[in-house]
Amino acid sequence: MKATQQLKEEHSAVLLMLQVLEKLVDRLIEGDRSSAEDLPAIIDFLKGFVDRCHHGKEEEWLFPALEAAGIPRQNGPIGVMLQEHEAGRSLIQDMVETLDVLEAGESQVALKEAAHNYIQLLRTHITKENEVLFKMADIKLTAAQQDELYENFERLELERMGAGQHEEYHKLLHQLMEKYGLNG
Ligand SMILES: [Fe+2]
Ligand SMILES: [Fe+2]
Repeated sequence: MKATQQLKEEHSAVLLMLQVLEKLVDRLIEGDRSSAEDLPAIIDFLKGFVDRCHHGKEEEWLFPALEAAGIPRQNGPIGVMLQEHEAGRSLIQDMVETLDVLEAGESQVALKEAAHNYIQLLRTHITKENEVLFKMADIKLTAAQQDELYENFERLELERMGAGQHEEYHKLLHQLMEKYGLNG
């Protein structure tokens, strides 16, 4: 498998979790407060699978390889992707902060806003990567470079998450998809 293909497959999993989050927020707004119990697990997925692992692969390995291949960081697509990763981190933090508010039985408006902003940001970010950046990568990188990236991705995943954690996150995703009536 190409390194870019591995990232695209991770994008598919991320998009499914965004659908779960969207559905959960809808249920909360409709008055089903019990849905809030799944938020910590979803936030853990967004921090662990999406940010630490997936964005880690992009920031530490893919983007530097693309820069070395002549794609500029400043005023170019890589700079934009990095800014969007940062914006995502800060929206995850906003969601974490609204959890305490929810527990106190207060308004769900702040959570709804942070979650919707995060979902929208990540969806457009993933489209840009799949449709623009990864296409550029597939043109610029040789097969040997893709292989090397793939190996580095695998190592990063093992170091950041530990053996078996990737599968645990997929298990969580599928459990939640079933619970929220989504068919992947
Ligand atoms: Fe990204
Ligand atoms: Fe990505």
